[in-house]
Amino acid sequence: MKLRALCGPPLCLLLCLLFQSGLSQTVVKSLPGLPGDLPFYLETGYIGVGELDDVQLFYYFVESERSPRDDPLVLWLTGGPGCSALSGLIYEIGPFTFNYEKSSRFRPALKLNDYSWTKMANIIFLDQPVGTGFSYANNWESYNIDDNISVAESYEFLRKWLKLHPQFLSNPLYIAGDSYSGVTVPRVALEVDKGNEVGLEPKMNLEGYVLGNPLTSYDSDLNSRVSFAHLKGLIPNELYESAKTDCNGEYINVNESNADCVDDLKAVNLCVENIRTGNILEPNCVTQSPKSTVSDRWDPTLINRDPSPLLLPTERVSRVWCREYNYLYSYIWASDKAVQDALHIREGTIEKWVRCNKTLSYTSNVLVVIDIHKELIKRGLRALIYSGDHDMVIPYVGTQAWIDTLNLTISEDWHAWFVDGQVAGYATLYSSFPSLFTFVTVKGAGHTAPEYKPKECFALISRWFDYLYI
Ligand SMILES: *[C@@H]1O[C@H](CO)[C@@H](O)[C@H](O)[C@H]1NC(C)=O
Ligand SMILES: *[C@@H]1O[C@H](CO)[C@@H](O)[C@H](O)[C@H]1NC(C)=O
Ligand SMILES: *[C@@H]1O[C@H](CO)[C@@H](O)[C@H](O)[C@H]1NC(C)=O
Ligand SMILES: *[C@@H]1O[C@H](CO)[C@@H](O)[C@H](O)[C@H]1NC(C)=O
Repeated sequence: MKLRALCGPPLCLLLCLLFQSGLSQTVVKSLPGLPGDLPFYLETGYIGVGELDDVQLFYYFVESERSPRDDPLVLWLTGGPGCSALSGLIYEIGPFTFNYEKSSRFRPALKLNDYSWTKMANIIFLDQPVGTGFSYANNWESYNIDDNISVAESYEFLRKWLKLHPQFLSNPLYIAGDSYSGVTVPRVALEVDKGNEVGLEPKMNLEGYVLGNPLTSYDSDLNSRVSFAHLKGLIPNELYESAKTDCNGEYINVNESNADCVDDLKAVNLCVENIRTGNILEPNCVTQSPKSTVSDRWDPTLINRDPSPLLLPTERVSRVWCREYNYLYSYIWASDKAVQDALHIREGTIEKWVRCNKTLSYTSNVLVVIDIHKELIKRGLRALIYSGDHDMVIPYVGTQAWIDTLNLTISEDWHAWFVDGQVAGYATLYSSFPSLFTFVTVKGAGHTAPEYKPKECFALISRWFDYLYI
């Protein structure tokens, strides 16, 4: 962007065009940690958005390994806000992941993911919003953002990306993501559809959206944790009934002068304080400070707190296995200069890479998006909402509750769906002419379902993208 200051408009335009078409998009042939050439097409790059393209959003694009010309094109937005695209790619649905057996703290090893969603979809993994992963801005003001700006920037990114990749304009387009992206994905989808409506170029072939354990209605999603804890046997009946009555079903914005409710919630907190919220069956390693309050405990961002990377993997031998330790490898790998060179990261653009940026300058200003879902359904877009049913961060019961308020016609009520002849979860199909809305639980999965049940989630998404019965 310094170019703009140095040269007049015509030269700048030329240079910027060259920059756009030549230097900002590169094909990555191999990656440190994975022997040989990549057996899939990986492109990385930056696209400038916002005023004067001051925000440079970094992305990883992986082509479908099946039929890139026909398969869906997916824009994947990892949640947080502030969790990197790489986190979604490497731990959830991308073509490679860490090979933990062969990794050391000096040399993380990668392996291919047999259940990558890129086996049947073209996926853009986007570091959004600015401040996430490798995305950066050329001035400080641009780091101050909210949901609206985040949505606008992702939408602008997508338009520009498609202009640079017109061969994907006719593929069915889906907007997808999980967790906090429940707030942004539906709104990006709506922007796309509205843009098409008013004739913005390029016209996008939007077919629908996909969400996993999505934040949708802040209060009721968080409130549902108490009924979830009850359903899963973490709190006793009496306490649940008492909390329900004393707190009047409202566990988030509690009036501190309501002593009975406060006492009940303290008791609830005691019952669950050593439970891992992202998957209640797994070991809990990130301990809260003894002083943390009930509302701290319910802080939805707690899930993204990793242990200090100083807790080196080799020192964990005597400890119980914890999923958080898996995350440490991403810090080591993504901070490696050789990796950053392979990914064509622009030097000096970010201070350091973190899996989830906890210090984003971000304001959540849209806390309920149920009306957006209604609007998208009305516009004929199809939706898949899946919930890992052992997640206490955004529990499936809360998701089911807001879906109920959509008042859709059930075309097939709660029924088991199968992988390898085993129940993989339960599905409810809603037909809401002209779209089909699908809600699916993934049995035994945590907050980011494909991270816990890769095979089942791959089967699910394959069937759904191919319009097959779930
Ligand atoms: C954000 O967008 C919503 C929906 O378009 C709008 O109602 C709201 O006023 C916007 N908020 C800000 C702070 O711009
Ligand atoms: C909290 O409850 C007290 C007692 O019922 C009431 O006087 C007060 O207005 C309430 N505060 C809020 C913020 O609702
Ligand atoms: C996190 O985001 C803030 C504000 O957007 C940014 O200043 C900071 O550099 C980011 N931190 C990391 C480690 O990327
Ligand atoms: C829900 O749907 C039924 C049947 O279509 C309709 O009678 C009712 O008014 C709807 N309720 C709401 C809250 O939209």
